[in-house]
Amino acid sequence: MPIHLGVNIDHVVTLRQARYREMLDSPNAEPSVLQAALEAEAAGAHSITVHLRADRRHIQDADVRLLRKEIATKLNLEMGNTPEILAIALDVRPDFVCMVPEHRQEVTTEGGLDVAGQKEVLRDTVSKLQANGTNVSMFIDPDLDQVRASAEIGARMIELHTGTFANHLGAERAKEVARLKAAAELGHSLGLQINAGHGLTTKNIADLFVVPHLAELNIGHHIVSRAVFIGLRTAVKEMLDAITPYRG
Ligand code: PXP
Repeated sequence: MPIHLGVNIDHVVTLRQARYREMLDSPNAEPSVLQAALEAEAAGAHSITVHLRADRRHIQDADVRLLRKEIATKLNLEMGNTPEILAIALDVRPDFVCMVPEHRQEVTTEGGLDVAGQKEVLRDTVSKLQANGTNVSMFIDPDLDQVRASAEIGARMIELHTGTFANHLGAERAKEVARLKAAAELGHSLGLQINAGHGLTTKNIADLFVVPHLAELNIGHHIVSRAVFIGLRTAVKEMLDAITPYRG
């Protein structure tokens, strides 16, 4: 199966919130989260990813519900493991949930989730979501203990954090690629679907191609940044072209 692209549209909403946070019902409130999703789908995106943060800094509850109703592809909800967000996920029933660590002060998701350190609470959330029809992924660093723990708690997927890969070059990047390869191989052998994301761009993506078994990449900031200059459809197509040569 060709590798899939999930387009994260959080930062389209970051722009809307910068101006309209206090006036979301204004007829001028833009850009539209739904138009962004539909443009990404029209360009060939396989899923639409959004992160409903506890502080609601970008995506709002109404955005998630609107996307659930209107998009034609799959909805992937990124979330921290809190009762409030879990209740929303159980009600909205996204196709996928990606469990992420979340800290109020961070600019973006900084590291992977410590699954091994909180197996019991995560097992409970995973089983509730999966029993409700949502496949769950664990956003983890490429660490073998975290891969094993993700399989042990019953998650069907892992998303390998590629932030360290993306932010380094040369020997340090090569070292991280080796960790990603080992994590992907172990995860696959344990029956997990392997996804990856964070910091990926059309420039660095080819260096990831030696990592086997990748099923889906979730990419946001670079695509939305490119969209400022070339439009969202073209930016999504550009990324699809960049990942198409991947051979698993
Ligand atoms: N995957 C997860 C779990 C994330 O938290 C993020 C950032 O929201 C991404 C992928 C996308 O990262 P980027 O915006 O750097 O492409």
